[in-house]
Amino acid sequence: MKKSKRVKKSNSWKIKQHRDPYFKNSKIQGYRSRASFKLIELNKKFKFLKNNSYILDLGSAPGSWSQVASKIANKGKILSIDIKRMEPVNNVCFVKSDIFNPSTKAKIESFFQRKIDVIISDMAANTTGSKSLDSIRTNQLCSEILNCYVELLKQDGVLISKLFMGEDFIEVKKLANSLFKNVNFFKPDSSRNESKETYLHCNTLKTL
Ligand SMILES: C[S@@+](CC[C@H](N)C(=O)[O-])C[C@H]1O[C@@H](n2cnc3c(N)ncnc32)[C@H](O)[C@@H]1O
Repeated sequence: MKKSKRVKKSNSWKIKQHRDPYFKNSKIQGYRSRASFKLIELNKKFKFLKNNSYILDLGSAPGSWSQVASKIANKGKILSIDIKRMEPVNNVCFVKSDIFNPSTKAKIESFFQRKIDVIISDMAANTTGSKSLDSIRTNQLCSEILNCYVELLKQDGVLISKLFMGEDFIEVKKLANSLFKNVNFFKPDSSRNESKETYLHCNTLKTL
């Protein structure tokens, strides 16, 4: 892309951001990003965060979901994980790790020392320029949680995960349905209309 086009695109993005009520509100309320409102809306709908919850936040950086979780679960335990670094959040332990690294799960088990109440994941793969590839790679992150991390949940535990309405959406939905009794999808108002992002909400593991 030519420099003048790049500058125009970045300026129009900045104007859009400053007109965005969720962006403005996140600054006012001291959240690190507008994504905080997605978790607030999800929790308002499904009511899964409690003051004593044990919460695993996957793909946590820069940390706004961890900030929301920390405000609510002030008597619980929160572990946040990301491949990028994250500034500290009150009452939250952070581990810089890749969820595909086999040692990550052991670190989580050693931190909680018991089954977890809630896994929240807003993980997204790095953008490549191809929306279809980005969607497949992000949905692979959701599948990895379903395949490898839900066994860390209590039987009546809850999983929230970002998912894209792409070509492999049905496969991920089938996988979720094979593991959980209740599977729902919800797109918060704070999720941009033009984004194919939605959130998976699952609760109560099936006994296999
Ligand atoms: C949309 S951001 C999360 C925003 C966060 N929920 C918040 O409110 O601040 C997605 C994050 O997923 C992380 N991520 C992507 N792949 C990952 C992986 N394999 N393991 C751990 N984190 C990953 C990225 O580094 C990025 O920080």
